[in-house]
Amino acid sequence: MIQMYHVHMSYSSDAPVLVDITMRIGKAEFAFVTGPSGAGKTSLLRLIMLSEACESGQLLLFGQNVARIKARHIYKVRRRIGMVFQDFKLLPLSTVGENVAVALEVMGRSRREVRKRVRSVLRLVGLEHKINSTPPRLSGGEQQRVAIARAMVSDPPILLADEPTGNLDAELSIEIDGLLSDIAARGTTVLVATHDMAWVDRTQRRVIRLERGRVVAGGLPE
Ligand SMILES: Nc1ncnc2c1ncn2[C@@H]1O[C@H](COP(=O)(O)OP(=O)(O)O)[C@@H](O)[C@H]1O
Ligand SMILES: [Mg+2]
Repeated sequence: MIQMYHVHMSYSSDAPVLVDITMRIGKAEFAFVTGPSGAGKTSLLRLIMLSEACESGQLLLFGQNVARIKARHIYKVRRRIGMVFQDFKLLPLSTVGENVAVALEVMGRSRREVRKRVRSVLRLVGLEHKINSTPPRLSGGEQQRVAIARAMVSDPPILLADEPTGNLDAELSIEIDGLLSDIAARGTTVLVATHDMAWVDRTQRRVIRLERGRVVAGGLPE
């Protein structure tokens, strides 16, 4: 689902942020990207969600070389990738239902379909009863689950999550872990960036370790 071969990236003329990244993540895999702060975890996710471009090397998504996709078709690839941001990015004045519906509305789905799908994804994250609440009235863990629901509402084959347990206590982290595992078990490829080593060590999952922009372990499946 996600393949990188000798990918390099930098933000400006600054020092490179990602150096010679080679990695491969298969369908329905659940893998972590770990590494110290500044190692390049967020940048790696931004590359995969096509918010940044590779300077050199190849990125393939769904088996397609991204460099060969015409600019006017890129949005179609992007739509197949759900992203959970570190700071949630929820709209505070909109309801939970509206927050989750946004992605489908921009795709021009019918109101009936949007309503059905929003309910179903909120059920998946256990928040159907909060559909009419606004985000500031929810706990941190609930807000995180809304962010996951929003990313999953269009049923993307790839889900990326940046530090999804960053602001949560250990108990809520376990809950988010369970939810992401369920999502992977349903066939979605899940890639989670985190420096939460307690979480990573608790699970037996694949770990791709970044240090100073390089993959130092776990880039290729065993
Ligand atoms: N928008 C940006 N512009 C310039 N440099 C950036 C930007 N975002 C991140 N960086 C730099 O890229 C490096 C990797 O950052 P990041 O990908 O956020 O790492 P991590 O998520 O592992 O903490 C850091 O040195 C950081 O300062
Ligand atoms: Mg980061």
